[in-house]
Amino acid sequence: MDPNASGLAARLAEAGQSHLLQFWKELSPEEQGDFALDLQNMDFQEINGFFRRAMEASGGSKQEKMDGRMEPVPREVLGSVTRDRESLKGWEEEGLRCISQSKVAVLLLAGGQGTRLGVSYPKGMYDVGLPSHKTLFQIQAERIWKLQQLAEQKHSIKCCLPWYIMTSGRTMASTKEYFSRHNYFGLEKNNVIFFQQGMLPAMDYNGKVILENKGKLSMAPDGNGGLYRALGNQGIPEDMQRRGIEFIHVYCVDNILVKVADPSFIGFCVKKGADCGAKVVEKTNPTEAVGVVCKVDGLYQVVEYSEITLATAEKRSADGHLTFNAGNVANHFFSFSFLRDIVQKYEPELQHHVAQKKIPHFVFDIFQFAKTFVVYEVLREDEFYPLKNADSQDAKDTPTTARHALMSLHRRWLLNAGGHFIDENGRHVPAIPRDGSADSFTDDGNRNLKDGTDLPIKCEISPLVSYGGEGLEELVKGREFHPTLTIDEHGVHELVKNGV
Ligand code: UD1
Repeated sequence: MDPNASGLAARLAEAGQSHLLQFWKELSPEEQGDFALDLQNMDFQEINGFFRRAMEASGGSKQEKMDGRMEPVPREVLGSVTRDRESLKGWEEEGLRCISQSKVAVLLLAGGQGTRLGVSYPKGMYDVGLPSHKTLFQIQAERIWKLQQLAEQKHSIKCCLPWYIMTSGRTMASTKEYFSRHNYFGLEKNNVIFFQQGMLPAMDYNGKVILENKGKLSMAPDGNGGLYRALGNQGIPEDMQRRGIEFIHVYCVDNILVKVADPSFIGFCVKKGADCGAKVVEKTNPTEAVGVVCKVDGLYQVVEYSEITLATAEKRSADGHLTFNAGNVANHFFSFSFLRDIVQKYEPELQHHVAQKKIPHFVFDIFQFAKTFVVYEVLREDEFYPLKNADSQDAKDTPTTARHALMSLHRRWLLNAGGHFIDENGRHVPAIPRDGSADSFTDDGNRNLKDGTDLPIKCEISPLVSYGGEGLEELVKGREFHPTLTIDEHGVHELVKNGV
């Protein structure tokens, strides 16, 4: 196998990627064969094109110009769980009705590599150390199961809420094996559909493809915007059409509080006639690592935290809130026809971003194509706590803080349902601790849950019992509980007395 004779060397030279052959002579004939095959299958002209466009779009001067072109989300497209309380019930009923008619699907982005968390297996399989030791996948699966039940009970009709799970080459086998080992957590196997996103070579900032070793390219999943290409390649829109899906909730795996297929969000988007919608929380700290939903040149878009200048991130309106405060929680709504158009028509037009030497585009880059775009604001403490980093002192978004966020939410559900916690001396634990620490937030928008006095009461409520805090009165009203408290399909359990 001679790269000169086969024309491979010439192709690489033309694409400015000759350095890939620098160790060629050191490879065994077998390694040379494998590597040549990999290189031949790679469309370097296309990849160089992605890189060029990504660099153009992310150039420094462009970024400053982008700041000047940004406008906040106008009030008329915004729905809010706090400001529109009177409409909430109607939205939730509409969402449940759509679910009961089997018109809703859930689409999970789980192709990331969990690099920051530092695990070699899919992030969804992470156990944050809850009393039940449920993983992110299990919590989400059980919420889907429960929602299906709620919709069926309310409308006396059997329904199905399919779950499409996007994995990558690196996570597919282990994800599938995990679900199968756990019997799909009570869901119907046919309604859990796995599909795989593509891979792209990693490049340095000079546009040179990086080698993982002497005879292997460094490949990474093609970003969560690889979703649209993957959907098209694997016939997912056709599968959705066959099932009569009309609305899709897309979300990211790492949010431990995610309200999967949230009926209020779906109902809100449907009632507004939206083809595309984004859920947001108020961004309170300029440097928090969330993208912001806004308009750029009149079109909706998420501007990522890495794409905005500090000056713009710090801008405040007259009322003291950040001007760009619609923090993207990576929960999106798409109508089926919009998603199909994206896959069929718009995907090739998408601009790639430069992100940590990769050149992906992002799931939200298609907002610009929406005819009716809406934004739905929810409470951070009820719906958003991402697991991003490994545990370490002062780190945020870690397994420990994610666990605390979930238990803190469940404690509030219990209090709202009329239950009480008592401490080891038999005294009521006040709902609002005297030091005001529980559920308070640090300056960077994170829940104030560090070691010490502000540890939350240990309370875990199975999604099989309650999807969003409903149905707990009959179990807890007027009763007193010692933490650790768990409520699951077998009943209410007080485990050992406190001690975290
Ligand atoms: C993401 C959002 C950001 C938002 C934040 C909230 C994107 C691009 N950015 O940032 O606007 O404020 O979440 O937590 O969505 N994934 C794939 N394939 C890939 C790469 C990632 O499926 O190739 C999935 C991951 O499994 C994960 C999700 O995409 O579920 C988010 O990816 P990540 O790279 O962690 O985005 P963030 O920087 O956290």
